[in-house]
Amino acid sequence: MSNQAMVVPLSSNSRRKRWSSLMAPLIVAVVVLGEIAFLGRLDFAVVENWTTSFYFPTSASDPSFSSEHIVDIDNDIDVAEESWRCEEWLEREDNATYSRDFRSDPVLVSGTDQDWTSCSVGCRFGFIDNKIPDATFGLPQNAATASVLRSMESSHYYAENNIDLARRYYGAWGDRRGFKIIMTTSLSSDVPVGYFSWAEYDIMAAVRPKTADAVAAAFISNCGARNFRLQALEMLEKLDIKIDSYGSCHRNHDGRVDKVETLKNYKFSLAFENSNEEDYVTEKFFQSLVAGAIPVVVGAPNIQDFAPSNNSILHIKELGDVLSVAKTMKYLATNSDAFNKSISWKYEGPSDSFKALVDMAAVHSSCRLCIHLATKIQENDEKTERFQKRPCKCPSSRGNIYHLYVRERGRFEMESIYLGYWNLTLEALESSVLKKFKSLGHIPIWKKERPESIRGDELKIYRIYPVGITQRQALYSFKFSSDDDLKKHIENNPCLKLEVIFV
Ligand SMILES: *[C@@H]1O[C@H](CO)[C@@H](O)[C@H](O)[C@H]1NC(C)=O
Ligand SMILES: *[C@@H]1O[C@H](CO)[C@@H](O)[C@H](O)[C@H]1NC(C)=O
Ligand SMILES: *[C@@H]1O[C@H](CO)[C@@H](O)[C@H](O)[C@H]1NC(C)=O
Ligand SMILES: *[C@@H]1O[C@H](CO)[C@@H](O)[C@H](O)[C@H]1NC(C)=O
Ligand SMILES: *[C@@H]1O[C@H](CO)[C@@H](O)[C@H](O)[C@H]1NC(C)=O
Repeated sequence: MSNQAMVVPLSSNSRRKRWSSLMAPLIVAVVVLGEIAFLGRLDFAVVENWTTSFYFPTSASDPSFSSEHIVDIDNDIDVAEESWRCEEWLEREDNATYSRDFRSDPVLVSGTDQDWTSCSVGCRFGFIDNKIPDATFGLPQNAATASVLRSMESSHYYAENNIDLARRYYGAWGDRRGFKIIMTTSLSSDVPVGYFSWAEYDIMAAVRPKTADAVAAAFISNCGARNFRLQALEMLEKLDIKIDSYGSCHRNHDGRVDKVETLKNYKFSLAFENSNEEDYVTEKFFQSLVAGAIPVVVGAPNIQDFAPSNNSILHIKELGDVLSVAKTMKYLATNSDAFNKSISWKYEGPSDSFKALVDMAAVHSSCRLCIHLATKIQENDEKTERFQKRPCKCPSSRGNIYHLYVRERGRFEMESIYLGYWNLTLEALESSVLKKFKSLGHIPIWKKERPESIRGDELKIYRIYPVGITQRQALYSFKFSSDDDLKKHIENNPCLKLEVIFV
């Protein structure tokens, strides 16, 4: 740390303001005494022993005060003051201005119209005369514009949707540069576009009595899919599973029905996708959940990641599974308690992991694209000297105090939090993040989207991860493995930017 950083300047004005607000509930004489003491004190490391006898700031006297600032109130009162000085200093010194203000100069994406209303970063879709767009759907016309591939189709049918292929080449001309930004159903893509959302599916819709004679319903139209779904269907039929088939494939019922309403009458729904691709999970699956019919899945190998709770879906990973799945179906079909248990999430709510996944769609993919672009644009700024010069940490008598930034997934603006070296733990990180967002009266982004019964009242952290990793990593694999791991991460990434998922 440079000498420059050792000097933590603080104007007497702001100090007095902060101090007096803490003193508010105390008698005037004490405030005056305190003021005199502080005006005469230039070196903040000097301990004012006598102050401990009446200095007990609480959240009631200062809403911005957080008790973590005082660790040992009996003999080290200046820890609090020192922390404030550090935080104020970091707030100022780390506040390098980004070259672009997205409020006046929104992210511009050409090539399609805007079909959503609000976004946490300035964001416009369409064309503006004389303005070079930041991104465009399809291949770019110039180097300044990022090319975006957006598709909800399986890469088993549209090979160009494969992320690695899309990044490298596209089309017949090998000289064409690959897509910069990929938006597919893959949670490893830059901006995933899934079939899931609270808005589209009434996931918590009430369960109806299962009135159909057959145990399962199927809506399968393409019998020639590139996986084994047709064989799986035929094997189930041979194993005496009674199936009402409404699709053109093996049809035995008139298909002109309301799909979800029809599914509600059945215990099982054959959610057979046309390809077995990671994260490729379509409306077949989510409509089954709405209907309270247990999905029997041929499809994404990681379909359990999409299950609303443990033991709530059946997965035919390969044809060899059909026999055991058929047995389970027969057991559940004749044992109403066991069946009810499999759909207990309908009464008790889905798991946090399911909520965290579906909540992603609370923010329109076009807005998430803008957030992605704006974040990349800011990352370019962060590579410049102006940003590299930010101190990002402040030396205090007990060790460095680190400046971190955190935002909710789906939002753009960052909030500051500060962590002392002596308390650089996952627990302290989570508690600081919660404290921060609670103090801001933060309303999670999914609050208005989720069905009322599962909105929750308390902010609860599901994941915290560095900005920039994929949702697949964020939801299923990334974890600060230990306090030491977190410590290293913070030390190696000055002004670390984090994202939090609340559930
Ligand atoms: C601080 O106050 C305590 C009593 O509250 C006293 O025992 C101690 O000696 C004082 N320390 C200094 C440095 O004045
Ligand atoms: C950061 O700097 C900008 C412009 O220089 C200013 O408008 C803003 O208030 C500053 N923020 C803080 C927290 O100091
Ligand atoms: C679901 O299963 C996983 C893995 O078997 C387990 O870790 C988790 O605790 C289970 N969740 C519930 C709510 O039972
Ligand atoms: C199913 O279980 C829920 C609790 O999970 C209970 O409220 C409901 O009455 C049960 N229904 C039947 C038909 O047993
Ligand atoms: C560390 O931080 C946690 C959470 O903010 C807090 O509860 C705890 O008192 C702190 N411990 C120390 C030694 O500062």
